[in-house]
Amino acid sequence: MTEQQFIPPPYSKFVDSGSVTWQSPSNIALVKYWGKKHHQLPENPSISFTLNHCKTITTLTYSKKADPSAFDFEVFLDGEKKDDFKSKIKTFFERVEPYLPFLKHYHFKIETRNTFPHSSGIASSASGMSALALCLMSVENELSAGTSTVETSFFNQKASFLARLGSGSACRSIEGDLVVWGKHQQIEGSSDLYGVKYPYNIHPNFKQYQDTILLVDKGEKQVSSTVGHNLMHNHPFAAKRFEQAHQNLEVLITILESGDIKSFIQLIESEALTLHAMMMTSLPFFILMKPNTLEVINRIWKFRAETNANIGFTLDAGANVHVLYPKAEADQIMDFIKNELVGFCQGGQYICDEIGFGASRVS
Ligand code: PMV
Repeated sequence: MTEQQFIPPPYSKFVDSGSVTWQSPSNIALVKYWGKKHHQLPENPSISFTLNHCKTITTLTYSKKADPSAFDFEVFLDGEKKDDFKSKIKTFFERVEPYLPFLKHYHFKIETRNTFPHSSGIASSASGMSALALCLMSVENELSAGTSTVETSFFNQKASFLARLGSGSACRSIEGDLVVWGKHQQIEGSSDLYGVKYPYNIHPNFKQYQDTILLVDKGEKQVSSTVGHNLMHNHPFAAKRFEQAHQNLEVLITILESGDIKSFIQLIESEALTLHAMMMTSLPFFILMKPNTLEVINRIWKFRAETNANIGFTLDAGANVHVLYPKAEADQIMDFIKNELVGFCQGGQYICDEIGFGASRVS
């Protein structure tokens, strides 16, 4: 697949207006994407668990307009007009217009809400951009009806491709339960252009894996991920890091097949700490972890050493901690989280999530 294949043939149907709703989840990377080339192409392959409960629900209402000279849209979050979201969506529309040539021919009303608190420090860009990309794909489907029925696999692939142009990691939110984005030698079908469902065996140990997200800091990040990705250019350890991501993904294939949770935990924690090490060793350098992030990590390590429980953590580009563990150990580990970790969360807040299976259309 190349970009060209996402340029549609001329649309066959006239559609005056309509409305479509999609819900799309967030995802948490196990092998991290950090560093990108032009056009939102990743410097290294990554893999993520799709989440189940942290979602964005977006309704896109569209009506044909007479003047196709410019984009015309309005955005609402929880029913409230959000003009400050417009520039990000305009950039997204500009990037995807070659692949969705109907964009300037319609007025769009984008109504969106998240199932997780807005200021939770959980990025809504992955769920938000994937939900919007899916809504746009449904509009394209309407316009194409009668010529070719768009196959689900192509629909998902193009939705992922479009979502990537909005926010890189958003391309991993269309499907589940594990999604790979970025070309990897050992993973058939993997591509830098879009995310693909992980194609190999996954041991039952990793089914229904739990993710309890500890909201250590709910504030805005001091450094955006866009700035962070760019700091990987000329980063002294960049080349080695990109190579390591390839190696870790290769090792993960074996772990996922064998069900070796101890090795899984070692790998995901190393990935999380490496991500933050890259931030701490860029120029300018920055630290997104907070003192309570380290408190939580140390408590997890102590509890693991004492009980041999299969509890591990990962981090995204922020201070919050994703505590990952198998469903079979949920009772013991939730007791530990409630007794020892929740005290380090801002306002005692945390979110219980688990592996999910991707986006779905809401009728
Ligand atoms: O999709 P972005 O540009 O917000 O970057 C996300 C980067 C990490 O969350 C830190 C890692 C990842 O692979 O999701």
